[in-house]
Amino acid sequence: MQFRNTSVRWGAVSQLLHWLIVALIAVQVTLGLIGLELPLGMEKLATLARHKSLGITILALATIRLLWRWMNPAPALPGNLAPIERFLARFTHAGLYVLLFALPLTGWIMSSARGFAVSWFNLAQLPNLVSKSDTLYHAMIEVHAALAIALGLILALHVAGALKHHFVLKDDTLRRMLPGRASAAARSGPTADSSGSSR
Ligand code: HEM
Ligand code: HEM
Repeated sequence: MQFRNTSVRWGAVSQLLHWLIVALIAVQVTLGLIGLELPLGMEKLATLARHKSLGITILALATIRLLWRWMNPAPALPGNLAPIERFLARFTHAGLYVLLFALPLTGWIMSSARGFAVSWFNLAQLPNLVSKSDTLYHAMIEVHAALAIALGLILALHVAGALKHHFVLKDDTLRRMLPGRASAAARSGPTADSSGSSR
């Protein structure tokens, strides 16, 4: 298994970052929803503190992921896509990247505006991004919730796309984001439409 991406396949580092972030987001959304439902008290504060620490971890991993992507051209989109599918693939990927930054940052701004400094697992205290403001705090609650819903919608499109490639088009799109050997078609090189360029 190669560490770096190739023109037809995601490397081990991109794969690890993709699936690690997927797992952390699943825990993160669960903690956010539990924190929201709990009555005010120690349990709510502890759940939200974990949510904040994990959110900052996701922000750091998303930054590493984007840097790694800039250093490594992404494999070309599969050559069998209609123009609308190419647009959807690019739109969902860009949207997911934006949300990977916007969700943690709005959460961080929300906490700062409330006057609660964010700590990372009680190991490091992060600076406040803004000064205390009730108006901003309430606005950020709304924006954070709207972004979480947007994540759910875009993720549904993203997963539907991945499953369609795997089960309907029967191409290598999902396999090339998973460890293991690519199919013979992928090993033989890019498709006619694949320039090998970054997208
Ligand atoms: C990818 C990262 C994140 C995701 C997917 C996420 C998702 C969520 C979800 C689904 C909720 C419950 C619904 C809502 O009110 O929005 C929530 C609530 C919350 N999140 Fe996040 N969050 C993320 C990062 C963060 C970070 C980094 C912080 C703070 C540093 C944070 C602070 C909060 C707070 C304080 C609430 C409770 C809001 C309230 O009282 O209504 N979140 N988050
Ligand atoms: C919150 C969860 C997820 C996020 C944030 C996410 C994010 C992303 C992003 C940003 C890319 C584009 C990579 C790049 O261009 O650098 C990508 C690619 C990909 N994702 Fe996800 N993803 C998530 C969940 C999933 C799930 C559940 C699946 C499978 C069912 C999946 C399958 C794939 C595949 C197969 C690719 C590669 C597409 C290609 O090679 O063109 N993702 N993901």
